[in-house]
Amino acid sequence: MLTQALLVDDSRSVLKFLQRHIEAEGLVEATTFLDPLEALACARDRVFDLVLVDYEMPHMDGISFIRAFRTLPGGADTPIAMITSWQTDDVKMEALQAGATDFLPKQAKSLEMKVRLRNLVRLGAAVRKQNDRAADLASAVAAATEKLGEREEEIILRLALAVEFRDNDTGEHTLRVARYSRIIAEQLGLPARLCRDIYLAAPLHDVGKVAISDNILLKPGKLTDEEMAVIRTHATIGKKILADSTCELIQLGAQIAAGHHERWDGAGYPSGLKGDEIPIAARVVAVADVFDALTTRRPYKEPMPLDMARNYLVENRGRQFDPACVEAFLSRWDEVVGIASGQQATPYQKIEAPLAANIEKAEESGPVEAVPAS
Ligand SMILES: [Fe+2]
Repeated sequence: MLTQALLVDDSRSVLKFLQRHIEAEGLVEATTFLDPLEALACARDRVFDLVLVDYEMPHMDGISFIRAFRTLPGGADTPIAMITSWQTDDVKMEALQAGATDFLPKQAKSLEMKVRLRNLVRLGAAVRKQNDRAADLASAVAAATEKLGEREEEIILRLALAVEFRDNDTGEHTLRVARYSRIIAEQLGLPARLCRDIYLAAPLHDVGKVAISDNILLKPGKLTDEEMAVIRTHATIGKKILADSTCELIQLGAQIAAGHHERWDGAGYPSGLKGDEIPIAARVVAVADVFDALTTRRPYKEPMPLDMARNYLVENRGRQFDPACVEAFLSRWDEVVGIASGQQATPYQKIEAPLAANIEKAEESGPVEAVPAS
């Protein structure tokens, strides 16, 4: 591609002279304007690699033109030479401060003009090459980063789904807990990125259940105290599975797995953490997880009516739950009811789609054996 030069001068003869010289070696295509305002309008839509602009012109002088050009997208690095004749050093200094790269004397001898123009053309081509390379690299990095993020999310969701299928009859619990958690995180005013990450990491809360033996995890009916103690190890095991990852999302998953059975009053497990000692993501998921467990049908219990589950949260705020998390959850009660009754729209459809497909498959093949709540 030829180097694109923008030439601006109110003298037709000067424009012709410049164009002839700059296009002489066949490396440059020049676009010429007598009016600087028209030239600027054109430069808003087109990328130029090089600009030559006169100083004295009607409507706008060369310095104002350079200043305006520098603000255009891609205009910051473009070499700009101002064509001068009698201008003083003060004017030249002002032009430099406005962003001029060089000056071209109007009455230059043709050899000098030839050399100066050739150097400017080379500079323009080099800047364009560098900018093109930087843009290519930036878009390659952005694409790779996005792909990596998508992979992380998919792996996390598939891992959570594996646990969910073992522990329950469908993957719907995972999705609902994720959605409730996002509502709470958003209402707490947590940063948007953290809300998204809590939504994505919440499904990992019970990942430690993969290590619980079937005869306990899938036992119908009441668990003995010893069996309950084994079930409770899922929090610590989940933390072990996810700990020390360099992936922030998995680190958050580790916090959630370890802390989602802690209680605000310190009577929870596995560490008996209290209040703010419990990571915020775990406090959020604790409310979401319990609410969903209460309101879901299990083989050994009927679902608790939503209003009754709501009362349970209210009665236990400041005891089992962070009161702010309960408050946040209840402040979007209509949405909660929508999710609980399976009518909620899915804003993260791209992420949820694989889950939904797997849930459908699972439903086709019939329910898996049911389990007691932990
Ligand atoms: Fe759990």
